[in-house]
Amino acid sequence: MNRDLSLAIVGASGYAGQVLHALMMHHPCIEPRVIDAREPDDAALVQCAACDVVALATPSDAARRWAEILLRRGHRVLDLSDAHRLDEGVCYGLPELEGPPTPNTPLVANPGCYPTAALLALRPLLKARLVADDGIAIVGASGASGAGKGLRADLHFCELAGNMFPYKVGQHRHTPEIERYLGAPVSFVTQLLPVTRGMLVTAFVRPRASAAHVLDGLRAAYEMHPWVSVLPEPGPSLGLRHVVGTHQALLAVGPQERSGLLPIFSTIDNLMRGAASQAVHNLNLWLGLSPELGLPPPLATLPSGLPGMSRMLP
Ligand SMILES: NC(=O)c1ccc[n+]([C@@H]2O[C@H](COP(=O)([O-])OP(=O)(O)OC[C@H]3O[C@@H](n4cnc5c(N)ncnc54)[C@H](OP(=O)(O)O)[C@@H]3O)[C@@H](O)[C@H]2O)c1
Repeated sequence: MNRDLSLAIVGASGYAGQVLHALMMHHPCIEPRVIDAREPDDAALVQCAACDVVALATPSDAARRWAEILLRRGHRVLDLSDAHRLDEGVCYGLPELEGPPTPNTPLVANPGCYPTAALLALRPLLKARLVADDGIAIVGASGASGAGKGLRADLHFCELAGNMFPYKVGQHRHTPEIERYLGAPVSFVTQLLPVTRGMLVTAFVRPRASAAHVLDGLRAAYEMHPWVSVLPEPGPSLGLRHVVGTHQALLAVGPQERSGLLPIFSTIDNLMRGAASQAVHNLNLWLGLSPELGLPPPLATLPSGLPGMSRMLP
């Protein structure tokens, strides 16, 4: 493959970085280069300078250190961490909602996984005033890779297997990010699932229209966006196995509950749409390339256009 552009990846040995590197290996125009350094020392900076963009797939404190030096030297930075997502005026890389990154922006902040799932489900509905912007409750359930590859007692096989439990209740770092880009306060709780990848977010909202109208509003919002599918109803088709390994987000609107609340569902692969494939999508748009390069095909282009029953079998 003769590729004119190159992407330096810092943190390529981590979970998000590994998936980003694997995707970029098949990118027709951009070649990945692994930066194997713990600090932005002279050798690493020479390697970065030879690339068009530097992706940071490191913990946020490291990303902040790397970005500061790289930006000072005039490099373009694609940050997968949460180091810059709340910065004033930052280019937040959620293409369906924010549009393509500004071509001359020096930094793109790739969104977090839960915020991606929650914002795709909710923001068009708040914008169209189809649901109230207060009293929003969000329950997220994620596979364990969302925590990264570091060793932790609660991530041991014996703690996770056959188990499920809430974590970081009342202090999840994604709450301010969701609130900032939703423009509304939320109650957000998270649960750890005994699976490696994938997340299901369920939001309860107060509808201002019938469930059918809310569903139509969501469909209209994503008509032109092939990597977001709005399913006719919630059910097994929202299952994590339909999104794992894809860039797809699956959304559904539940029937209105007897309490008056309406559930809105969203599933994504935390390592793909929640991190690496979203980074590739942003990179393509930022560099003026065709959006689908290096990405798995959208579900809409597959024969059924919807998750099929056969794919539900193990
Ligand atoms: N996991 C997800 O689902 C997910 C989703 C969205 C966003 N993110 C974000 O993406 C980033 C990476 O997450 P992850 O889950 O891939 O974490 P991870 O599995 O713990 O990997 C972290 C990576 O960063 C490297 N690293 C650590 N300190 C470094 C430093 N000072 N300089 C250079 N490299 C350094 C590690 O290298 P070593 O191998 O040498 O330790 C490793 O390659 C985090 O900011 C996370 O919040 C993750």
